[in-house]
Amino acid sequence: MGCKVLHIGAGGYGERWCDTFLPSNVTDGTIEVVGLVDIDVHALERGRRHLGLKTEQCFTSAQEAFRAVDADFCSIVIPPALHESIVDLAVARGMHILSEKPIADTMEASVRIADKVKAAGRKMAVTMSHRFDQDKATLKELVSAGALGRVNTVSCRSLCDFRIYDSWSRFRHEMIHPMLIEGAVHHLDIMADLAGAHCTSIFARTWKPEWAEYKGDTDVIALMDFANGAYGIYEGSSAQSTGLNPWGFEYFRVETTYGTAILDHRELEVFHRDSKRIYQKSRQGEGQQVSLLAGKKWKNALLIEQFCKWLDGDPPLVTNIEDNLQSVAMVFGAIESARMGKPVKVQEFLQSFREGAPIAL
Ligand SMILES: NC(=O)c1ccc[n+]([C@@H]2O[C@H](COP(=O)([O-])OP(=O)(O)OC[C@H]3O[C@@H](n4cnc5c(N)ncnc54)[C@H](O)[C@@H]3O)[C@@H](O)[C@H]2O)c1
Repeated sequence: MGCKVLHIGAGGYGERWCDTFLPSNVTDGTIEVVGLVDIDVHALERGRRHLGLKTEQCFTSAQEAFRAVDADFCSIVIPPALHESIVDLAVARGMHILSEKPIADTMEASVRIADKVKAAGRKMAVTMSHRFDQDKATLKELVSAGALGRVNTVSCRSLCDFRIYDSWSRFRHEMIHPMLIEGAVHHLDIMADLAGAHCTSIFARTWKPEWAEYKGDTDVIALMDFANGAYGIYEGSSAQSTGLNPWGFEYFRVETTYGTAILDHRELEVFHRDSKRIYQKSRQGEGQQVSLLAGKKWKNALLIEQFCKWLDGDPPLVTNIEDNLQSVAMVFGAIESARMGKPVKVQEFLQSFREGAPIAL
């Protein structure tokens, strides 16, 4: 019998959970969905049909669902400012938690959630889906295999055309720093993973071009230092004019001692340094193509399976909440850097929230 899941959020990205990520894990017996919640009755009904649930298993109130449903864990797919309220209900009911990124919409709430989950002795992980996408996982394997040597720099470009109001779900057009909190959290998480070390320093500039129909900043440029001597360069926009590198089709480049790996629009190529030459020239598109890894599950579907294995006694998921605070600290460290106009020491920044101490930058 699979893990019993109470799922919160059936609209927006939650609909992908209901029509794809959850069903693929129901089919192979990894999970059983025992309850569904959404405040929007239409989204709830669509989700109910995708999952084949009875009407009495569906709720418009999370409080009511947590009272009525017995589950091993809950999955949270509602906007980040609301995550903590659901975590509180889960912890009170003794449930484990698999939540969509980011942990929360502030550094304070993210650390509070991690502390509450730890104090309750529960397990919580975050769906950093894109790191577990087939193309990014293949790039990570190529870089980790050792043949390319030490990582020198990691570059990432993510450029989406969501400039029109409501094109990227309304809450993102109304929040502060939508690109950093809702978008870049994935990219910075992948960059640290490719660098192979925690981020020690981040220096960011953020802004909103006049055509972006948002309250917060849609454009970000950031420089990062990693603990092992690697550096990162990030360019992100949710209001770029042409959608050059949209979700799932980002550009990543990893420079190493002996080569260059480029992932662009899901195609991976590698260039190897020829040690017999004094110097060498290369061009994107003329490298050695690398086939993507084979696998049945990727992104959220894979993370649901790995989370269940953790509940069954396997080692913690790599996106467990404690480790995932690193990605959140990069995001809120970048916001602090943009505010102050200078680099932020990411580990000290994170530590200052853990101890409840004032930020010393
Ligand atoms: N991992 C990824 O690739 C990925 C992609 C998209 C979104 N997300 C994450 O998923 C979460 C939701 O984003 P979205 O784009 O689906 O948002 P959305 O606004 O499009 O949809 C949110 C859904 O939650 C419901 N909802 C709101 N408050 C609720 C409450 N109190 N109880 C129950 N249901 C409630 C809404 O009715 C709606 O159906 C966010 O954390 C976001 O970052 C992750």
